[in-house]
Amino acid sequence: MAQKNFPPLVKKSHWLFGNMMDLKRDSLGSLTRWQQEMGPFFGFHAMSRPQLVNAKPEYTKYILQDNNKNYIKGKAFDLLRALLGNGILTSEGDFWRKQRRMAQPAFHKARLAGMTQSMLQVIDTFLTEWEQKYKPGDRINVSEEFNHLTLKIVAKALFESEVSDDIYKVGGYLFDGMERLMMRLRNPLIPPRWIPTPGNIKEKKTLQVLFDVVEKIIIDRQNDPREYNDLLAMLMTTQDEDTGEVMSRQQLLDEVMTIFMAGHETTAVALGYIFWKLSQYPEIDQQVDQEIEQALGSGNLTFDSLRSLPYTRQVVNEVLRLYPPAWTVGRRAINDDEIGGYHIPAGTGVMLPIYLVHHDPQWWDSPEEFLPERWADTQKIKQMPKFTYFPFGGGPRLCIGDQFAQLEIFAVLSMLKQRFKFEHQPKHDIKLLPLVTMRPKDDIYLTLK
Ligand code: HEM
Repeated sequence: MAQKNFPPLVKKSHWLFGNMMDLKRDSLGSLTRWQQEMGPFFGFHAMSRPQLVNAKPEYTKYILQDNNKNYIKGKAFDLLRALLGNGILTSEGDFWRKQRRMAQPAFHKARLAGMTQSMLQVIDTFLTEWEQKYKPGDRINVSEEFNHLTLKIVAKALFESEVSDDIYKVGGYLFDGMERLMMRLRNPLIPPRWIPTPGNIKEKKTLQVLFDVVEKIIIDRQNDPREYNDLLAMLMTTQDEDTGEVMSRQQLLDEVMTIFMAGHETTAVALGYIFWKLSQYPEIDQQVDQEIEQALGSGNLTFDSLRSLPYTRQVVNEVLRLYPPAWTVGRRAINDDEIGGYHIPAGTGVMLPIYLVHHDPQWWDSPEEFLPERWADTQKIKQMPKFTYFPFGGGPRLCIGDQFAQLEIFAVLSMLKQRFKFEHQPKHDIKLLPLVTMRPKDDIYLTLK
């Protein structure tokens, strides 16, 4: 078959900025519209260079899995490196492989089972604080609360660290950092970091606060004579197979920063969406309550009991389908390639918007509706092509914390629902803010019953 040229391109909407302003104005709306007009594999103009968008599961599998060696992380990750350093999330090649191998054992099932009790303990303490802080009728900013909670869980479970309330600052600073990052991504006219503009000075300060918190965790551990068996201990002591050296201080800092940041915001956002959705669907909410009550009752919560809540799992799957917190992943071709008969020149960026595939009517009946029961037909779900549902990415760079995140979601859901009820409210939409993660534009508030 003769090779086709480049995939079809969206018409430019600005002679200089190409289609960047459309994306800046409304990323999800623009991408959805373009997909409807152009099909699932197309390009848009990112300034002078075309950038590809793929929402076809078959090609996603090819890029993330079958030919993953030809696709490194995209431009967003170059920028993310300024925020998170060169850790597992942002590094490439042999260096990434080595770092991932070192961290992977900390996320194995047996380890997670061991972490469950400390996770539950953090949630218990947090909810006890809620009991003192809130009374029925109070409106709770659950977005903020879940951000605090997931920060504490990740710090405790992975770094055995009793972080002080200073940790809450991190959430805010991270948000500022991500906003700035997206501005850089979408607007190349932002002055480079070394020019001391007010925005750049603020960005520098933000990064400093983040690094200070993380550095403190490492220093505290270095000064602690007790023996630990968590991720931090593993990262600090594992030796390089070739050189026998342990990780440099900078590398350690980058890895801790990465796990810390990648490990809390996404889960917090997911929890926010789950409780917000349940508040609008009383029957589904009650069914979740019943399942938790029947399966867990007053018995001990364990790794296994938390994972055997089939209806609740359907609800969680459905929320992550509708609102994938990591709404897109990006890659860049190293060498020339061919996908679907199209020529892909080396250096081309490819966006793989998880959100678009999760909302594609080709794969999902009534894609915009919240229908947890669609997950009940496990046979049908199994037969769907790979990468029609991939909230945690896929291929070798699948989220390292996918099982951790799910355990955490089930633990928070179960404990919170056993101790608190939120009022139901009429169905309504919220505005989404797709930055690096996709969070609600405005924080979610729920009223305590
Ligand atoms: C609901 C929660 C979460 C979601 C939706 C999520 C989503 C994702 C996705 C889509 C990727 C792939 C990015 C890519 O291919 O470019 C990823 C990677 C990653 N995630 Fe998560 N994540 C979640 C929770 C966590 C947690 C709890 C941790 C750690 C404790 C974590 C740590 C990481 C790391 C380190 C990577 C990079 C893996 C690599 O490149 O080898 N994530 N995550």
